[in-house]
Amino acid sequence: MTQPAQIGLIGLGTMGAMLALNIAEKGFPIAVWNRTTSVTHGFKAEAGALADRITPTETLADLVAAIKPPRAIILMVPAGEAVDQQIAALRPLMDKDDLIIDAGNALFHDTNRRAEEAARLGPHFLGIGVSGGEEGARHGPAIMGGGLRADWDRVAPVLTAIAAKYKGEACAAYMGPAGAGHFVKAVHNGIEYADMQMIAEVYGVMRDGLGMEAEAIAKTFEGWNQGPLQSYLIEISAEVARATDSHSGKPMLDMILDRAGQKGTGRWTVIEAQHLAATIPAIEAAVMARNLSSRLEERLKGEALFGAAPQPTTQVTLDQLEQAMIAGKILCYAQGFALISAAAKAFDWAMPLPEIARVWREGCIIRSSMLNDMATALTEDPARNLMLAPFFADHLKSSHGALRAVVAAAAISGLPVPALASGLAWFDMMRTGRSTANMIQAQRDFFGAHGFERIDGLDDKHGPWAGHGI
Ligand code: 6PG
Repeated sequence: MTQPAQIGLIGLGTMGAMLALNIAEKGFPIAVWNRTTSVTHGFKAEAGALADRITPTETLADLVAAIKPPRAIILMVPAGEAVDQQIAALRPLMDKDDLIIDAGNALFHDTNRRAEEAARLGPHFLGIGVSGGEEGARHGPAIMGGGLRADWDRVAPVLTAIAAKYKGEACAAYMGPAGAGHFVKAVHNGIEYADMQMIAEVYGVMRDGLGMEAEAIAKTFEGWNQGPLQSYLIEISAEVARATDSHSGKPMLDMILDRAGQKGTGRWTVIEAQHLAATIPAIEAAVMARNLSSRLEERLKGEALFGAAPQPTTQVTLDQLEQAMIAGKILCYAQGFALISAAAKAFDWAMPLPEIARVWREGCIIRSSMLNDMATALTEDPARNLMLAPFFADHLKSSHGALRAVVAAAAISGLPVPALASGLAWFDMMRTGRSTANMIQAQRDFFGAHGFERIDGLDDKHGPWAGHGI
């Protein structure tokens, strides 16, 4: 006998189906609905031992009726219009106290709007960022919740049960009101883009600069995965580098077109950072690199005209590359957390920075051993930039020289390393007490009489050129 459902889920695509199985496995009876009814029935038919906890429904009204009130329904539909359509279709069928949970990769501005509409029209609304891909959805994702605290608390038992666990601690937490959860997920994705790009850059130095074969690259990543760089992304990069293409017998990597896709979450992060005047150049560089990678024809024209850029180098050791990656990674995470801080201030959201680092320790794509140290550093002082925390400052003191050597050698050999180089430039600006912005201020005053502050505090806002530019 199928048990009465405690929760509902709409959208049995890969992620939705995996999440529904995860929920059922953790002991929560679930009602499911999909636009195509055969998919809904097929899902139950293939659920094996979990089938008893799954109620397939053929209409939205049936779905709502199958769930114990006050109801909670998770949406796992493509971000954007589909979410609005689904909410509009559910609204007349649900009670005001019921709850809709959008678990897709929504733009947080949309989540803000939907939260506001929910407050006026009901039912209640939560936006949750879910990370971890298919495997995570099935066996434990990281979950970042946004909306009313009381709504989060209501479904927290289910969400913490299905979430990944770090030493027994659930990687699911409330991030703040309205779009806060989806904002944190967007920053996660921005960091994901930068981490992936930096790994691709060091791969490029190994492949084109040091002439290493895929197998040797795989071994190098495997070795790094035993040290401070231990992370899911380094681990899968080793596996990827080791894989062989069944068609050609060549390394799989060599057969993959170098044109990267994207759904846009990294771009959202960069756009938002610009609005907030937050500085995330490593993430910006990663988004730029993805955009440029897709312009293959233009790149081929460039190569035909100027000759191929990458040249072999003898100036970089594998040890330096590892240290450069450590420094780059710290800098990119420091930028991501600083962006979250800026958003918390600007939107008046009390976002729990140490909790965010804790939630990212397991289940999500950017999980890594460094995040535990970041959680500790942010607990000590959530307002301090991570690169200034003693633990990471020590790491940076011992690794930024290698980052500098790698970026310099890469520049001389024409090996593009935009994310590493942007991270380094940011680091150098962050440690320069006397910058060159005095020149910018002088220029602004010259052509626009914008005025400047003097270092001696005198109240004379204009240079001797006053009047020249106006
Ligand atoms: C995750 C991932 C996941 C997905 C994104 C990024 O945390 O599980 O970030 O959400 O990989 O859709 O995709 P793009 O690389 O296509 O932007």
